[in-house]
Amino acid sequence: MHDAYGGIASSSGDGQAGQTDTVRQTWRRQRQALEEGRHYATPMGLIPRRGWNRLRPALKLFERLLRLSGLHARGRANALNIALKPVTVRLANLPVAFDGYRILQISDTHLDLLPALVDRITALLRGVSVDLLLLTGDYRDRHDDQPEPGLALLQPILAALEPNDGSFALLGNHDPAASVSILENMGLRVLLNQTVTIERPHGVLHLTGLDDVHSFYTEAAHGALREVRTGCRIAAVHSAEVADMAAAAGIDLYLCGHTHGGQIRLPWGGPLLSQLRRCRAYSHGLWRHGNMVGYTSNGAGVASIPIRYNCPPEVALIVLRRAEKPVR
Ligand SMILES: [Fe+2]
Repeated sequence: MHDAYGGIASSSGDGQAGQTDTVRQTWRRQRQALEEGRHYATPMGLIPRRGWNRLRPALKLFERLLRLSGLHARGRANALNIALKPVTVRLANLPVAFDGYRILQISDTHLDLLPALVDRITALLRGVSVDLLLLTGDYRDRHDDQPEPGLALLQPILAALEPNDGSFALLGNHDPAASVSILENMGLRVLLNQTVTIERPHGVLHLTGLDDVHSFYTEAAHGALREVRTGCRIAAVHSAEVADMAAAAGIDLYLCGHTHGGQIRLPWGGPLLSQLRRCRAYSHGLWRHGNMVGYTSNGAGVASIPIRYNCPPEVALIVLRRAEKPVR
């Protein structure tokens, strides 16, 4: 396996996830400036930050009403009822060597909000055979707390798995730059607008992982998508919000989370809230944009209130299959 960033080979002289120290330091400075700033950086430009603290009293009141109505216990039980969801994706560009390749996608764990999920997920995944583990961000819930508690809860889950080609992680909009070293110390390779290439004797698979694009978008994310690569390409992004850019760049498969599938859905409809600023059609499940296939995971955890209705939590087992190319 080798990797590159922005077309510059970085296989030597770098100790941090294959990126040169200079690239990583530049990224960290830029990310921390955005975290301390008064705006979210989105693909549509800067937008003012919302004061999440102002919403807390309303959320607390809503949670209290749910408890009084008896719905809270049912919602919490729903949130703990996690399952392994097999998802078969057919790609015309997939090399024969990767037919049947298994990617385990765990998204939006937010384990500090519902720590009881740790044992459930660990039991679910023990003994599951996978080629690659992909964590697509949001490891904690509260934005203003230290990241360690939520991240440390990942340990037993990671220990239950032995992916053949390694374990990779992205940052979500809940994850500060300080999360990177913590994730790396747990054996994860954090992809920050960079591509890794998985090699087989007769084919390669490129995995491009982006920093969060919901609140911390930079041109480096778009640049990583536009790297010229020959062969099958997967983009891993916390949210679906740059799906159109990825499709235009020739990505074959786009894997994301962020929406939690809505977390609360009406029995007869889709998500009440998607938390997507663009590409809103891709809030859950399998989708297609041009020639690119996408999958938005419901996620494993919950945000704000530890409940789910009509929207089960999941760990997605993405199985790549080679599609027959149409005869012209
Ligand atoms: Fe999330």
